[in-house]
Amino acid sequence: MHYSKIAGLGHHVPENIITNEHLSGLMDTNNEWIVERTGIKERRWINPETDTVANMAAKAARMALQRANLTEKDIDFIVFATITPDYFFPGSGVLLQRELGLESIGALDIRNACSGFIYALSVADQFIKSGMYKTVLVVGAEIQSTAIDVSTRGRNTAVIFADGAGAAILQRSEKPGVLSTHLHSDGRFAEELYVRDPGSSRPREERQPEQILDTTHFKVVMNGNQVFKHAVVRFMEVIKEALAANNMTKDDINLLVPHQANLRISQYIQEKMGLSDEQVYNNIMRYGNTTAASIPIAMSEAWAEGKIKENDVLCLAAFGSGFTWASALIRW
Ligand code: UT7
Repeated sequence: MHYSKIAGLGHHVPENIITNEHLSGLMDTNNEWIVERTGIKERRWINPETDTVANMAAKAARMALQRANLTEKDIDFIVFATITPDYFFPGSGVLLQRELGLESIGALDIRNACSGFIYALSVADQFIKSGMYKTVLVVGAEIQSTAIDVSTRGRNTAVIFADGAGAAILQRSEKPGVLSTHLHSDGRFAEELYVRDPGSSRPREERQPEQILDTTHFKVVMNGNQVFKHAVVRFMEVIKEALAANNMTKDDINLLVPHQANLRISQYIQEKMGLSDEQVYNNIMRYGNTTAASIPIAMSEAWAEGKIKENDVLCLAAFGSGFTWASALIRW
């Protein structure tokens, strides 16, 4: 029987800091509203001349490799979670493989939005447990800033979503590291948070760029209230599912790293589950909601701050577009 463990974590965020004040100059919003409703104080947006999803992912991956005392050549397979790939196709996995100078290893793209990193971790875990691979690079990276509507019409998403990348090296181990993963979806709510185009099920003329007059469908559409209501229920459900599967209680969690969707969602879960401040890690204040990248960025920072120690139990949980939701329980 093989087990998998996280051998190293890394992250990279663009240098360009976008404050709430900056957004107030672009649209009808203000610092008080954003902080009160989301907890976000600033976020990072890419410089399109230098940053890509794949090259941010490569920087995060190199940090994770270094912390794991490994090199690029040790990687057997790549699982790349993103809903904002550099190209419509191929996916960003192959671009990361190229960026890291790797030859011919497999690269799989995962499109499960905010739950993407946990889905990716789960896939990597199964590959290692089955004996197929020994070392898998798992990445979550996103560039949301170029797709959001920065006019007042798009303010409910523009103030939240942001850019960044996080990576984990998952490696075969003798002792269980990843204890269990739990993946869910409910496609009835697909259109509550989505970007419609470039979708394929459209008359040909609607996919011909020279004929597109209305570009609304290329932007993020979110029914914030609906997403929020489902998120708080599913987050708790899937955390409890992970604990029950491992005969643990909330007191066994050393650190909960929730997807950084909205500080109010994290605080709600913390309060309802009776978790202490030390048991929950949040960094949304500094980075906004970076979709699939948020969990690995948060884990990487928490680790660097000494908040994840040997033998600790780490709980990851996420909810997002799809709807999809997921959790993972990890023994460090
Ligand atoms: O990543 C995973 C998936 N995403 C999430 O989990 C996000 C879940 N949803 C949310 O985080 C929240 O619903 C939002 C932060 C998006 C919105 O917060 P809310 O408390 O649900 O606000 P609301 O949509 O109910 O809007 C309240 C008011 C509205 O004005 P009226 O109709 O009351 O006059 C909005 O037009 O706030 C207005 N508003 C804004 N005002 C200033 C919406 N966005 C903004 C804004 N600045 N950026």
